Amino acid sequence: MQIHLPDAYDLSDYETLARKQLPPNAWAYLAAAAGDGLTARWNKEAYDRLRLLPHVLCDLTKASTRTQLLGLEIDHPILLAPVAYHRLFHMEGEIATAQGAGAAKAPMVVSTQASTALEDIRAAGTGQLWFQLYVQNDWDFTVKLLRRAEAAGYTALVVTVDAPVSLRTQERRAGFTLPRGVDAVNLRGLSTATFQASGIGDSPLFGGALPVTPLWGEVARLRALTHLPILLKGVQAPDDAARALAEGADGIIVSNHGGRVLDGIPASIDLLPRVVDALEGRIPVLVDGGIRRGTDVLKALALGASAVMIGRPYIHGLAVAGAVGVAHAVHLLRAELEVAMALTGRATLDAVTRDVLVP
Ligand code: FNR
Ligand code: LAC
Repeated sequence: MQIHLPDAYDLSDYETLARKQLPPNAWAYLAAAAGDGLTARWNKEAYDRLRLLPHVLCDLTKASTRTQLLGLEIDHPILLAPVAYHRLFHMEGEIATAQGAGAAKAPMVVSTQASTALEDIRAAGTGQLWFQLYVQNDWDFTVKLLRRAEAAGYTALVVTVDAPVSLRTQERRAGFTLPRGVDAVNLRGLSTATFQASGIGDSPLFGGALPVTPLWGEVARLRALTHLPILLKGVQAPDDAARALAEGADGIIVSNHGGRVLDGIPASIDLLPRVVDALEGRIPVLVDGGIRRGTDVLKALALGASAVMIGRPYIHGLAVAGAVGVAHAVHLLRAELEVAMALTGRATLDAVTRDVLVP
């Protein structure tokens, strides 16, 4: 079968095409960052500041991007980060993403706020799926979600801990609302308090309005409840990482949610080395935020990441060409990674060490 690929040669092409194609409402939600968008910008700029040292005349006959992550074999270290409501961006939503992820051999992390039933996503995908859990104020509901993910065959649990609240003016100005027919279907039946910063008078947040605020205790409770590996997403402080290890986390994802939650945090790649050092290699550390080039992936691996996740870029692919766009976007990034490995003389991911970077 002949597959028609969009005119996209790197991830920035997909971004340009997606912006042209998406309704303003969906674009506002996808592109939005918190505050002035400083952290979102730094996420990318921090990669641009890192410099690579080439190595020549290396034997690459057995080169490979294969690796092990949490005991699972993966073909390459690029995962799809959890993003809510894929049906905002393409009619087939998470079904198309799961198909594209499978074709590109990229593990996909499915959001709690997916717009498709988690069982249907599992049925559509051929690759590894992980489930991203937002702990809900209703603990029984949270456990039910976890059990559904286990029963459906998800192989890891990503507990996002950095986003109990958020305030994104860009999105608010655009008057973002979910269109009819798109909602967090896996959360139906849950009563949620919504956080409003638009009124005047009483404390807008403290004193009752805080919607979902998981605590360390919940991590320990989840750990006791499931055999799935648990990764905490959104840990950035080294002492939080050490605490996560002590509470039984199997992995950490250094992430600032693509700059969507607290503006003014350093780029995630700048915080990565300290988290890696604090954990002394005992559990894998992943990183996301601002990864747009294969050289960015290489830099993240050099600074100690076991793998990386991309968020907005694969959604651009989804918006432009559904499953094909997702698979193609991952493929473009992977091709750039392989070229970067070849030119720095690294035949395996284990060989991608800090000395890939010019100090
Ligand atoms: C997100 N992200 C996110 N994270 C999460 O744990 N659960 C979620 O439901 C969502 N939803 C979501 C929606 C949208 C539109 C975006 C852009 C992001 C954060 C995501 O997993 C990831 O951390 C960032 O997207 C990574 O940054 P880049 O690659 O987008 O720069
Ligand atoms: C966001 C939430 C869903 O970033 O995590 O939009």
